[in-house]
Amino acid sequence: MNDEYYRDFGPFGDRIWINCAHQGPLPRVAVEEAYQAINWKITPYELVSERFSSVPARLKRSLARLVGASPSEIVLGNSASYGLHLLANGIPWHKGDEVLLVYSDFPSDILPWLALEKQDVIIRYIKPKDYLPEPEELETNITPSTRLFCTTWVHSFSGKTADIEALGKICKAHNIIFAVNASQAIGARPLDVSGLPVDAVISVGFKWLCGPYGTGFCWIEPKLVKSLVYNQAYWLTMQTADDLGRKESEVRLPEGLPNAGTYDVFGTANFFNFKPWTASIEYLLQHGIERIAEYDQQLVSQLIDGLDSRKYRLMSPREETVRSTLVFISHKDSQRNTEIYQTLKEKGVEVAFRRGKLRLSPHLYNTKEDIERALAVLNAVK
Ligand SMILES: Cc1ncc(COP(=O)(O)O)c(C=O)c1O
Repeated sequence: MNDEYYRDFGPFGDRIWINCAHQGPLPRVAVEEAYQAINWKITPYELVSERFSSVPARLKRSLARLVGASPSEIVLGNSASYGLHLLANGIPWHKGDEVLLVYSDFPSDILPWLALEKQDVIIRYIKPKDYLPEPEELETNITPSTRLFCTTWVHSFSGKTADIEALGKICKAHNIIFAVNASQAIGARPLDVSGLPVDAVISVGFKWLCGPYGTGFCWIEPKLVKSLVYNQAYWLTMQTADDLGRKESEVRLPEGLPNAGTYDVFGTANFFNFKPWTASIEYLLQHGIERIAEYDQQLVSQLIDGLDSRKYRLMSPREETVRSTLVFISHKDSQRNTEIYQTLKEKGVEVAFRRGKLRLSPHLYNTKEDIERALAVLNAVK
């Protein structure tokens, strides 16, 4: 058994979790940090001022390393929706501006922009032939009014990966803001924003980054952050609880333009979530995202190659350039997918059922044996 990573997670009991696209499990190092955070709260004298600043600072350092940015460029959030709403509400829109979205994208990528119609911003959808737009499909949908294009990197309902470099180049050429939701990718594939034509990368922390639920972040290109007009001013990003002990002074907004820290989610120290999440990210970084991505793809290959092709159709891409860690399959009689999903559950194999298909999404904590067990159940189906 390849248990290099497996032994650092769980225990999973007698079940296997091939559903990281829904929730990633906490590694044990993160569980330890969560217990420490609980202990701080059991005895609140442990919640010293220094911890209010060190918890977010350490998290920002790890996220910055993860995406190839500076810690000062990271906005801490509690979801993907947080960062997407920040952009939707903060960009100064003009009447007639157009936001380009992808028709079958995850709701978090659609909803934040819809209310902009009240400001006479036009919302338009690309309806790609195959879930996510190819560069030509983006190019043909751009108009002189297009101001922003938002897409997911890895599509939650098909497993297809967008070519963000090619899409980003087109956006740059047309002076369009390019916002990428990396929730289904980051942690399972490397990312370096310093070399990519993207303006904002948004992600949850609770899937491939193996953090607690209620975590997320975004990286926003510094010039774009400065241009945001959004009413947010959180005292703990400007002073500490210790400052409250000093003489009364006038409460004022900081001078100058906003930076990423201005927009951190309130409750930025959020010990229960951010402390373990940091440990999860540090764990992934310590093992190396490239190596983890390679390992994940071995599991994906094993799954795809082992599937009985007389019974199942692979519904997600097979080619390595476009496939991801989200594998979609369907029985040739697609009506049977619900029943197969139930059988897998009864046999202790946890996968997801999305838009009529079975979705299997393995990550580093899974082993070859996990995939064999899932295949044995799937292929035994008549
Ligand atoms: C692409 C994508 N974005 C976002 C989310 C969740 O977003 P939020 O944190 O806004 O609930 C999911 C899945 O839950 C997803 O698949």
